[in-house]
Amino acid sequence: MNRRHRFILGIGGAVLAGTLAFACSRPGAGNLTAGDAASRVYVAPGSHDEYYAFLSGGFNGQMLVYGLPSGRLLKMISVFSQNPENGWGYNEETKPMLETSHGFVPWDDTHHPALSQTDGIPDGRWLFINGNNTPRIARIDLTTYETTEILEIPNAAGGHASPFTTPSSKYVVSATRFSVPIPNADVPIESYKQNFRGTLSFVTADKPGEMDIAFQIMMPGYNYDLGRAGKAVSDGWFFFSTYNSEQAYTKLEVNASQNDKDFVAAVNYVRAEECIAAGEAEAVPANYRHNVVDPHSRVAVSHQRTSVRVLDPEDCEGVVYLMPTPKSPHGVDVDPTGEYIVAGGKLATVIPVHSFSRMLKAIEDRQFDGDIDDIPILKYEATIAGEVQNPGLGPLHTEFDANGNAYTSMFISSEIVKWKLGSWEVLDRIPVYYSVGHLMIPGGDSRKPWGQYLVAMNKITKDRYLPTGPELAHAAQLIDISGNKMTMLLDFPTLGEPHYAQAIPASLIKENSLRFHRLSDNTHPEAVRTLQGGGIRREGKRVHIRMAAIRSHFAPDNIEGAQVGDTVLFHVTNVEQDWDILHGFAVMGANNSELILGPGETRTIKWVPRTPGVFPFYCTDFCSALHQEMQGYIRVSPAGSNVTLKANLSERSASQVERARNVANAGSLTTGGR
Ligand code: CUA
Repeated sequence: MNRRHRFILGIGGAVLAGTLAFACSRPGAGNLTAGDAASRVYVAPGSHDEYYAFLSGGFNGQMLVYGLPSGRLLKMISVFSQNPENGWGYNEETKPMLETSHGFVPWDDTHHPALSQTDGIPDGRWLFINGNNTPRIARIDLTTYETTEILEIPNAAGGHASPFTTPSSKYVVSATRFSVPIPNADVPIESYKQNFRGTLSFVTADKPGEMDIAFQIMMPGYNYDLGRAGKAVSDGWFFFSTYNSEQAYTKLEVNASQNDKDFVAAVNYVRAEECIAAGEAEAVPANYRHNVVDPHSRVAVSHQRTSVRVLDPEDCEGVVYLMPTPKSPHGVDVDPTGEYIVAGGKLATVIPVHSFSRMLKAIEDRQFDGDIDDIPILKYEATIAGEVQNPGLGPLHTEFDANGNAYTSMFISSEIVKWKLGSWEVLDRIPVYYSVGHLMIPGGDSRKPWGQYLVAMNKITKDRYLPTGPELAHAAQLIDISGNKMTMLLDFPTLGEPHYAQAIPASLIKENSLRFHRLSDNTHPEAVRTLQGGGIRREGKRVHIRMAAIRSHFAPDNIEGAQVGDTVLFHVTNVEQDWDILHGFAVMGANNSELILGPGETRTIKWVPRTPGVFPFYCTDFCSALHQEMQGYIRVSPAGSNVTLKANLSERSASQVERARNVANAGSLTTGGR
């Protein structure tokens, strides 16, 4: 361990110990709240919260929807992990959503939700979120609160700096965390400097169902951590933080902490578009997936893509500049005016702020300190607007209010620090419990912060809740930022590890929420639209059962003729056309999952019976007073048995079944009106 590293660990440890000691040694210091905090977060029974907040689920791979200020959990949206709560990634309709070039990936890691924007202001149409481990970007539709599209990012490894929206939502942007050989190849790890590169991916986002990689920019072999679009005056530019400009490939905690400065990469993506239009990008082979849910059948399809356009800055002068930035910067955040670019140098003693206008001037005056791979390095003094002195320890992320103030999370000293843009003076600080990562202000990353609240997402919970064994729920904290002084209002537990969050006034989007899927629009090939519409048919060893679910029965509910060795597919349609009336479906011995069915929705579960017998199925979602009566049986006979394939329907439809049986091929029967 070198001296500098020891020093950093030393101060980090001392300060952390000091903070904890401070918290524990003063009575009540751990719950310094406003005296009327309870009434300020109280949302009376039956009343709605003022904001929707969307917190990533981190290592659970999902998205969480909370109400603010109450901190009430409203929903978990399935994204990058299979979800046993609703069958996502288990049922046949949604399995394709988790397909990647590496095959089926049932669990990923989500980090940074990003709301779509119009003119730099969150508009609440869509929410984007990254898959961090196997790099992907998902689109969540905020009318259904469901994932509708996932695009894999090729030539990337670790999609951490992702996804960040440009002001018009033309692009969501993703940068690779780990540099790797591009295209990936079997090379010695020691050849890092020669062979490893990073990429920045610009993904078209404004057309649902049509996400695609517009282009990638090839970058030096650093680690890319986070990014932000320019806005207003800096619209058309994008900023990424980098660390490991040392290009270390082992023991990064020491070896990537050598340089006093790493870089913020400033990318002129309008210039990139010009170079691409001029034919400067190269189409390179790549293998990645685009998965999309059909809005009418609600069946997902996974498409393979085979090529991507890559632009080398060498072939496009003026597309990228590097701004030296102390030290191993983590967050890079752009203020609402677009002029200031704030870096969170997690090992830095100051918060450095670059000026966009000074950056343009420095480029014009060619204030360069050499270049790396033909990318000019701007002089630090030429771009820096100011430094916040003595902000605390371990600055990570910064968000903004509408009054020219910035708020930075301090991981090591466990606090939020409020400071003034322009004068760079620290105005206020408030301790958080403990070790805050991201923070979020509604609209605080956009051109129009709504302000009012700040949510601190803390990594360590310790003593904040009743103990629940070695693992505790992470703690979010709600802070009121409407006055001069920040006041702590509320702790609330979260699921997984919320890395980042977004929030939007509920009034802007709550009326868009869908109440049910229209049966008349349901184009699922196995959909049932009436109680008599179900049936059964055999296709070789596959038995398809089409079934309606309605309060409080399944139609059909008695099925015979399936055999050991068959694969049975239950296609269940919830034919309810009523808000919030769900049914479930579980069959004994199913090896994958159950189903949960939204009103008007068709879902399919695959069931492979192993022994002869009679097996019950039932509704798993309490739907009515007679929910407990919502059940049925499937009979399974030995392979080769001559038990007739049969699905009872209501008495009115029995004659239909009979007629259909007469016309069906031997061993095959189709009923219903399809
Ligand atoms: Cu349907 Cu319970």
